Amino acid sequence: MEQPPVFLVAGPLVLLLAGAPAVRCQGQTTNAQDVDALQSVKSQWTNYPPSWNSGDPCGSWDGVMCTNGRVTSLRLSSVSLQGTLSGSIGQLSQLVYLDLSFNINLGGQLPAEIGNLGQLTTLILAGCSFNGKIPTEIGNLRELWFLALNSNKFTGGIPPSIGVLTKLFWLDLADNQLTGPVPVSTSTSPGLDQLVNTKHFHFNKNQLTGTLNGLFNSKMTLIHILFDSNQFTGSIPADVGGITTLEVLRLDRNGFVGAIPATIGNLVKLNELNLASNKLTGSVPDLSNITNLNVVDLSNNTFDASVAPSWFTTLTSLASVSIASGSLSGQVPKGLFTLPQLQQVVLSNNQFNGTLEMTGSISTQLQTVNLMDNQIVSTNTPSYKKALLLAGNPFCAEQDPNNKPFCSRQQQNANAYFTNTAQCSSAPQCRDGQNLNPTNCGCAFSYNGKMVFRAPLFVDVSNSAPFQELESTMSVQLKLLPGSVALSDIHFNSDNYLQVQVKLFPTSGTTFSVLDLSRIGFNLSNQTYKPPPKFGPYFFIADPYAPLAGARGDKKSKMGIGAIAGIAVAGGLLVIALIFMSMFALRQKRRAKELKERADPFASWAAGQKDSGGAPQLKGARFFSFDELKICTNNFSDSHEIGSGGYGKVYRGILGDGTRVAIKRAEPGSMQGAVEFKNEIELLSRVHHRNLVGLIGFCYEQGEQMLVYEYISNGTLRENLMGKGTYMDWNKRLRIALGSARGLAYLHELADPPIIHRDVKSTNILLDDNLKAKVADFGLSKLVADTEKGHVSTQVKGTLGYLDPEYYMTQQLSEKSDVYSFGVVMLELVSGRQPIEKGRYVVREVRLAIDPADRDHHYGLRGIVDPAIRDAARTPVFRRFVQLAMRCVDESAAARPAMGAVVKEIEAMLQNEPDAAASGGGSSADPPPNEFDHSRGGGGGGPPEHPYSDVEISRGSYAGDGASDYMPYFEVKPK
Ligand SMILES: *[C@@H]1O[C@H](CO)[C@@H](O)[C@H](O)[C@H]1NC(C)=O
Ligand SMILES: *[C@@H]1O[C@H](CO)[C@@H](O)[C@H](O)[C@H]1NC(C)=O
Ligand SMILES: *[C@@H]1O[C@H](CO)[C@@H](O)[C@H](O)[C@H]1NC(C)=O
Repeated sequence: MEQPPVFLVAGPLVLLLAGAPAVRCQGQTTNAQDVDALQSVKSQWTNYPPSWNSGDPCGSWDGVMCTNGRVTSLRLSSVSLQGTLSGSIGQLSQLVYLDLSFNINLGGQLPAEIGNLGQLTTLILAGCSFNGKIPTEIGNLRELWFLALNSNKFTGGIPPSIGVLTKLFWLDLADNQLTGPVPVSTSTSPGLDQLVNTKHFHFNKNQLTGTLNGLFNSKMTLIHILFDSNQFTGSIPADVGGITTLEVLRLDRNGFVGAIPATIGNLVKLNELNLASNKLTGSVPDLSNITNLNVVDLSNNTFDASVAPSWFTTLTSLASVSIASGSLSGQVPKGLFTLPQLQQVVLSNNQFNGTLEMTGSISTQLQTVNLMDNQIVSTNTPSYKKALLLAGNPFCAEQDPNNKPFCSRQQQNANAYFTNTAQCSSAPQCRDGQNLNPTNCGCAFSYNGKMVFRAPLFVDVSNSAPFQELESTMSVQLKLLPGSVALSDIHFNSDNYLQVQVKLFPTSGTTFSVLDLSRIGFNLSNQTYKPPPKFGPYFFIADPYAPLAGARGDKKSKMGIGAIAGIAVAGGLLVIALIFMSMFALRQKRRAKELKERADPFASWAAGQKDSGGAPQLKGARFFSFDELKICTNNFSDSHEIGSGGYGKVYRGILGDGTRVAIKRAEPGSMQGAVEFKNEIELLSRVHHRNLVGLIGFCYEQGEQMLVYEYISNGTLRENLMGKGTYMDWNKRLRIALGSARGLAYLHELADPPIIHRDVKSTNILLDDNLKAKVADFGLSKLVADTEKGHVSTQVKGTLGYLDPEYYMTQQLSEKSDVYSFGVVMLELVSGRQPIEKGRYVVREVRLAIDPADRDHHYGLRGIVDPAIRDAARTPVFRRFVQLAMRCVDESAAARPAMGAVVKEIEAMLQNEPDAAASGGGSSADPPPNEFDHSRGGGGGGPPEHPYSDVEISRGSYAGDGASDYMPYFEVKPK
């Protein structure tokens, strides 16, 4: 009677969760050689994760990830490993990622066999206790891209062989005890001057000596040179001025002599220049062309006497100017204080004289002016009310510091920011090493560590805005609940680094799982987490995680307890025993509660009622009885079936009030755990947006799990593109792109908690009567990340052809993975084809075909464009659309726009659409053609480049964009 229904919900539906283990195992058994190697590595460790006690490594050991039975990734950050690294590690010949960071009890020598890992792209041992020499065999790791050996106890020299690692992007050797010079190549030996692709030289806080002669050259593309706190000598080589990519240059706290080369002034991208505490002579350099300079410190050198340099009043970007002991004289230029961004001035111990004039529009951000020990005789500072230090000037000689606080040597600094927990007024006193979680005012074992910013672009630590931004970016990017990041103890340390104590709180329960720890540790150790730009480069060192460091019953801590027992009096023992007993009792109680909740999560919902009254956590989603749904689908008859997949079937139905619905019914084998199911509906019921398919209700009764969705009448985008629906002109395509982008932007940016879709594709975009796009099947990812089964979250999910290669490589999910998939959908709108057709991958085809010069003929895409829109494809809007799609499918997640930005751009295209279509010619609004050469951040118009904008993890390690590289992992989902 009715038209054949076109509602189709395809792909891995939310209910597919229980099918996850199938993807995980896929019949992989670990290769025997790899099992041997892992067993042997394990034999050198105590306190490894409990999951390493049984099962097949590829299937069940935390932190081990495999491809076709070969171990490709070993990620065990922050899990309190103890022991040494066995040379057997070298047998894991397919290893690509090795991250053992933040295991302070893991040490000994780094075995030479590490050099056998020919596929390794990422080696991170930061924050462990490795000692001895860095093995020269490290030079055999020709694929190496990210090398972080910082904060260990390495001694000896930097091996010259590092110079052959031409793919190296990140080189961090900071905070060790390395000695000798930085090797420079000779006719017989390589050197670090050959690392022309490396962006980061972080060698600070060692005992390196010698000169830097020959190290720098203009082929280099470094953006950070951090050589501070070493014992370098000689003069600063003029060649450093040829590295015009440089953003941070820190050579402070060394023994450099001679004049600062004038070429420094050519480093126009520089944000921070710190040459303090050397023995530099000559004149203060002319920095007037470095118009991005935020922080400059030239203190404690031995410059020739001079007046203040002219750039004091012309460099409007300056936030902090420090030239203590700089032999400067004359009047302090009053224009300095009106620089708009200025936060701090330190000019103590110079010979400034005359009157201190701080008049006019003083920078509102200015917090500190330190002019102690100069020759100032009077002041005119009518409106400046923040810290002013003038002790040691003639003006203060006759003043009583009690009356004139600015004549005192000590002044109250503005209070540094810290995360406020005042809202937790009735909070419990947390014990046993737990801390107060600001999100829910409960106690939990937080993951603690210090984050150290090596060259922040600001100095004011009292301003809350940047730190609140730091909190929110951390919670979002590390996939924690909003508000579960606490910052404290914020200060500039003695090395002039901005140090922040960080506490991260688990999303549920009181303890992070091993997988959460290694995931968060990896995100911080390999710089996947990117702080707001003004914080600049950072490193993170985690504290041992309390529940693992003590409680896992390893030999060492048992011995520790034994020793305590030996010296403790009986009373002390009793106290210890009581504490242990009460901890045990508490844990048991908690576990019992958890078990109960698992068994019947709906107990508190008065399940079975036919209205929503019994489900207080749900906003607007109804509880349907099994009988009700049975009736409205005519006993789940075949004639009501409108789709099916691995999870079960989808039925259409009409509710008592006439509402048309689509009902997803899970099959017994694919049901989720009860708690997961409950979490999922709680989450989905909070998500409401006109471009998202809405959840109406659910059924959890008689062993059934069903989700009831609004019924969308016009089928999927895929079907419509295949000509099964309306004629899809270009304008309709743009509107569909806009609608689905808005739905996704809502999930990413407005849903709370944010939701990553993970399976964006044309069969998950449904069209309603007005061809309005509605995104279906979101929700899976976030829930998975939140459950205790954290390991599921590390399994790559998605559909062949839409899958973000970086996510595939790193298994680190972010919103940008959805952006990638959305870019593929955009190319589908352009081409009308499926992403992979006849073995051809649309992303690759378009990338190869684009020809910006072909302005009058479809941008080089004539052979690819859907014939239905061939005319529209000659317009600038079409080009912009393709360019946007290509940015969305950039291999590097960091280079992709956020969904919100995609929405704005498509909105702008729709506004321009009719006019642009008429004019037909080129448009100045077109981004420059170099958008396609993958040089990130290039071209004008984009946001200002962040010192870290280049950081990401898979770049260089992911070869090519051939879909076949990542095909074997996925089943193509039934349509
Ligand atoms: C600054 O740039 C201008 C124009 O390129 C050049 O003439 C001048 O010499 C530069 N000044 C310094 C100090 O480098
Ligand atoms: C400069 O030297 C003074 C006095 O020794 C010291 O207090 C100050 O911290 C030094 N400043 C820098 C930036 O090294
Ligand atoms: C201030 O210093 C300048 C430069 O050294 C000098 O020429 C001038 O005479 C001094 N003025 C006073 C009032 O001492």
